[in-house]
Amino acid sequence: MILLGVSGSIAAYKSVELLRLFLKAGQDVRVIMTQAATRFVGPLTFQALSGHPVLADSLDPQGWPPVPVRLDRRPSSINASEGGQMAHLDLPEKASALVLAPATAQLLSQLACGAAGDIVSASILAMPRSPAGRLKAPVLIAPAMHEAMWLHPATRANVITLKKFGYQFIGPERGPLGRADDQGLGRMTDPKAIASIVLKAL
Ligand SMILES: Cc1cc2nc3c(=O)[nH]c(=O)nc-3n(C[C@H](O)[C@H](O)[C@H](O)COP(=O)(O)O)c2cc1C
Repeated sequence: MILLGVSGSIAAYKSVELLRLFLKAGQDVRVIMTQAATRFVGPLTFQALSGHPVLADSLDPQGWPPVPVRLDRRPSSINASEGGQMAHLDLPEKASALVLAPATAQLLSQLACGAAGDIVSASILAMPRSPAGRLKAPVLIAPAMHEAMWLHPATRANVITLKKFGYQFIGPERGPLGRADDQGLGRMTDPKAIASIVLKAL
């Protein structure tokens, strides 16, 4: 299963195409979104195409079905398959890759300091690692932002930190940016190119 994280960039509409490419390649895809991302593309679009509920809130009870009440058993003896799930832990455990596309400057900054305030950053933080700290499944990040944001020293430092965490970057590219007439480095890599890199990394 590919876990596709979407954050609040003007490029979020391109993630719909990315999802379709993964599905066309026979992949099962689960989509998680930041609250900001839901203002750019409706979760319903991703839900209808992926055939799975979309989580955009780490506290959403949908992502955390209740453990059936059994007075004769201690909670610690109940396993996830019986209903004690938590989406921000279960989805990363099941993912053969996590793809964050588009990745905003805001999300890169959250990830660089280990924040987990939304379902996307919490899931990335929870991606399983070996005892030596190696990621068990690849985390691929496709940033999208204005050139000024990409070149800011804070973003540069965040990218260096995130590479040290083992995350792989795809792009960004140089080209037209979200605001009319703006050009520069910061455009999200084309979904076809992202899909091809991710499918090879699986
Ligand atoms: C129209 C519009 C387009 C935006 N595009 C981007 C973008 O491409 N990259 C980015 O880093 N922020 C962009 N932003 C700002 C983010 O939406 C904002 O920082 C938001 O808090 C990001 O939240 P998230 O990282 O939790 O999804 C844009 C804002 C607006 C209003």
